[in-house]
Amino acid sequence: MLDREIIPLHIAVIMDGNGRWAKKRGLPRVMGHRAGMKSVREVIKSCRELGIRYLTLYAFSSENWKRPKEEVETLMRFLNEYIDKELPSFIKNGIKLNFIGRMDGLPDFVRPRLKKATEETKDCGGMTLNVALNYSGRSEIIDAAKKFASQVKAGKRDIEDLDEGSFGGFLYTAGQPDPDLLIRTSGEMRISNFLLWQISYAELYVTPKLWPDFRKSDLISAVAEYQKRERRFGA
Ligand code: IPE
Ligand code: IPE
Ligand code: MG
Repeated sequence: MLDREIIPLHIAVIMDGNGRWAKKRGLPRVMGHRAGMKSVREVIKSCRELGIRYLTLYAFSSENWKRPKEEVETLMRFLNEYIDKELPSFIKNGIKLNFIGRMDGLPDFVRPRLKKATEETKDCGGMTLNVALNYSGRSEIIDAAKKFASQVKAGKRDIEDLDEGSFGGFLYTAGQPDPDLLIRTSGEMRISNFLLWQISYAELYVTPKLWPDFRKSDLISAVAEYQKRERRFGA
């Protein structure tokens, strides 16, 4: 049973293991990505039901361009398809979409969809869903440093204005609380360049479950484990 009083405000997920899921079944990797879309739907819905206010999903890293061209293209097509299919339900359920990463590096056939989804959900107040695409934690920090530096150069800011609080305002997640819980599926014990700044004090939860097998009950197990942790923040 979950304690309704200590529900994390923000959950971040490294959705890993689609390729392994497909391989186990003798299927092409892209079938694993297709199957993973069901888990995405279920996790979004379950987070909304649990009253999670922010959910961040790692969908495509800046390093993932190194994969075979067909796989990358299929992933981008699935993304379009997913948005077309789910946008009405995001609006209906008050889910605001926010894409994080270097959007200008994404293909032309994807960007208009993202823009449309962002605009059409901008007034939704139930939950914010960040989808990380062409995302790199280090690039995000560099982009933030550049934004700050250009404001200094323009005379709008003073170097002394920069501290840990104000720096967060230059990140892609400006105005949002940091993740309380970071979930990674498929057992890998690494961060893979995800939200480097924001996860300073996140509780980590790694499950051997492959992403396409991850269901509501697994999310609940992760939150239950989170509720057992004693968060000390260095104190
Ligand atoms: C995660 O699954 C999905 C993306 C990174 C897009 P993988 O494709 O990394 O699956 P594995 O790690 O090879 O099993
Ligand atoms: C991390 O998974 C990126 C996403 C889930 C989108 P990867 O499979 O790309 O990471 P590594 O290669 O295991 O570090
Ligand atoms: Mg992987």
